[in-house]
Order: sequence, then C-alpha cells, then structure tokens
Amino acid sequence: MRETSQKTLLRALAGEALSPPPVWLMRQAGRYLPEYRATRARAGDFLSLCYNPDLATEVTLQPIRRYGFDAAILFADILLVPQALGADLWFVTGEGPRLSTITGDEGVAALKPAGEIHETLAPVYQTVRNVASALPRETTLIGFAGAPWTVATYMIAGRGTPDQGPAHKLKAENPGAFEALMARITEATIEYLAAQIEAGAEVVKLFDSWAGSLEGEDFRRYCQQPIATIIEALKARYPDVPVIAFPRGAGAAYAGFARATGADCVALDQSVSPEWAAANVQVNGCVQGMLDPRHMVTGGDALVSEARAIVRALRGGPHVFNLGHGITPDADPENVHRLLDAIRG
Ligand code: CP3
Repeated sequence: MRETSQKTLLRALAGEALSPPPVWLMRQAGRYLPEYRATRARAGDFLSLCYNPDLATEVTLQPIRRYGFDAAILFADILLVPQALGADLWFVTGEGPRLSTITGDEGVAALKPAGEIHETLAPVYQTVRNVASALPRETTLIGFAGAPWTVATYMIAGRGTPDQGPAHKLKAENPGAFEALMARITEATIEYLAAQIEAGAEVVKLFDSWAGSLEGEDFRRYCQQPIATIIEALKARYPDVPVIAFPRGAGAAYAGFARATGADCVALDQSVSPEWAAANVQVNGCVQGMLDPRHMVTGGDALVSEARAIVRALRGGPHVFNLGHGITPDADPENVHRLLDAIRG
C-alpha cells in the first residue's frame, strides 16, 4: 500500500498549507529533456509514444528521477479522446496536431458512443497501472483529460487556432450540433477519467486551455458547467479523488471557479498575480501555477525572486507550486534545479 499521509500533493489538495509547497511542472516530461527526446526517437513519433505503455511509463518517470517532483503526470495527450471517439488524428512535426474536422450534425452523428472509447485508450490505462506501481511512495500520480470546450475547439477546427474561431462559429450557427458535441465529449471524459482512477490515478486534472476565449454566459455554459458535470460524476463514484481544474485565461472568473465547479484546486496562468490569487481564489481552496514558463528559459535572479514571491504570497493557505502553462522545449533543464532550490532550499 502507498501511504497517503506522506504525499505532500494530496495533503495540499486536501487544504493543508505546507512549507515548502509540493511542486510539479506542466509538461514536465517533454522536449526540453534529452532523455525524453531519446525515448521519443525510439517510439518513432509522438502518438506511438502515447500508445506504448512501456515507453510512456519511461517518459512519465524521467522527470521524477531527474528532479524528484512531488507528482508525476501521466504521459498522454488531451487529443487521444477525440481519436477514441473516431476522429482522425496526426501530429505535424514543428507545427502541432491535425484532426478531421466537425462542421455540422453529420460529423457529430458519426462519432462513436462515449462508452466505446476504452479499446483505443486501453494502452493509456496500462501506462497508469505501470506508473502507479513504479513511483516512489511519496510521489502522487496525476491523470488528466482536456475539458470539453478545449477538446471541441480542436475537433471542430481540426487544429489549434489563435481565437478558436471555427468553434465559436459552429456554436453560433448550429448550436444543436455544438451542444451535442460538447455532451459527447463530456460523457467520454467522465468515462476516461474514471478508467484512469480505476487504473491508479490518485488525482485528475482538467485542462481548459482555451477557456479564455469564452465570455460571460458562454464561460458559464461551456467552461464552468461541463467541468462541474464531470466533477460531480467523478465525485459520486470517487469522493476522495481530488480534481484540479485549469480554466486558462479565465482572469477575474478564476474567483469563485472552485465553488462553481467543485474543483479541489484551481490552476492559474501567469496573467494573474499571486497576491490577487491569495485574496480571491485561495480563499476557496488550493491554488496552483502562475510562474511564467519563460523563466525556465531565461533563469537567473528573476527566476528565483519570482518563484519566492509566489511561495510567499500563498504560504497562508493550500498551494501547489507550478508554472502558469507548460514548460517549453527551449527551457534549460538546469533552471528546473534552480527553481527547486529556490522553493525547497
Ligand atoms: O508532462 C505532461 O504535462 C503530461 C503530458 C501532456 C502532453 N500534453 C504531452 C505532449 C499533457 C498534460 C498535455 C496536454 C495538452 N495537449 C494540452 C493542454 C495543456 C496545454 O498545453 O494547454 C493541449 C492543448 C494539448 C494538445 C497538444 N499536444 C498540442 C497543441 C501539441 C503541440 C504543441 C507542442 O508543444 O508541440 C501537443 C503535443 C504534445 N503533447 C507534446 C507533448 C510532450 C510535444 C510532442 C512532441 O514530443 O513532439
């Protein structure tokens, strides 16, 4: 048995203020690490890596071995769910993901039922089982999925878009198709995260990377509400599994997000200040994030002083140290050591 009481991440997510705070980094397994690049080359391409449990386990563990983070995040991608629902998916090197597009009712009707995603995703569940049995006992395993709005933006446009224009257009012109798509993704996400928890994920995180393009009532309906629905379904089955929600770019709407959705922790991007987060978000529970990922490229005194300022501002309540978005491929692996020294030192 792994001992929960030793796990700093679970303690912080349960509401404890810890000094130093637990720390992990978004995209901690990735191209800035030479050992990741080597394993990815062995896999051949990114998707083959995601669907190879031995190699996906290896890259999940690499940053834990190198840095001793308090949490490991499953190595996979938010776009595996669209693929499991029947979308075509491929990655263009140097550019990013490409998918078949959904432009109307027929596209949604052609998707598989949510209950049929597990055959495609079985290798991911095997990775979760492998990592769960290999982790040091003080390290927490985080599973994840994309939130429905962000996943829908990729399924509709067939790629990443600067303003999520195609998804906004479908929402305006064919709300029936748009809402049916959102409902299907929501259902599939509940299935997917429940299966990750069954396989050994101790925490799950929902990434709503494009939440910032939803305004007002749209933010409530298409970011907050689907996330609340997913959390409610998971909590009914797994009341003790904490959920982290990342409505990136939510701005003022970060305040109250935990209460509106039932999330145990809200992840914040670098556009908000730690003082604002302490006063407006941490009052409702654990917070995570805010360090600009550029510091991991530039390093120096600014990295240390910014990291310490975040720790100082949030030390009165539950806090998990993290970046405001994923670490980038041009980050210097040495800067991660400098960051950990600044937080733990
Ligand atoms: O270490 C971890 O954080 C776990 C693994 C993880 C990946 N993607 C691996 C990955 C996680 C949690 C994600 C989430 C993800 N994927 C998001 C949400 C978070 C965010 O960044 O906003 C999104 C939007 C995606 C979709 C996606 N996957 C894009 C747009 C890209 C291309 C951009 C890029 O960085 O190349 C990916 C590819 C991807 N996912 C890589 C990794 C390590 C790089 C692929 C490679 O090795 O070439």
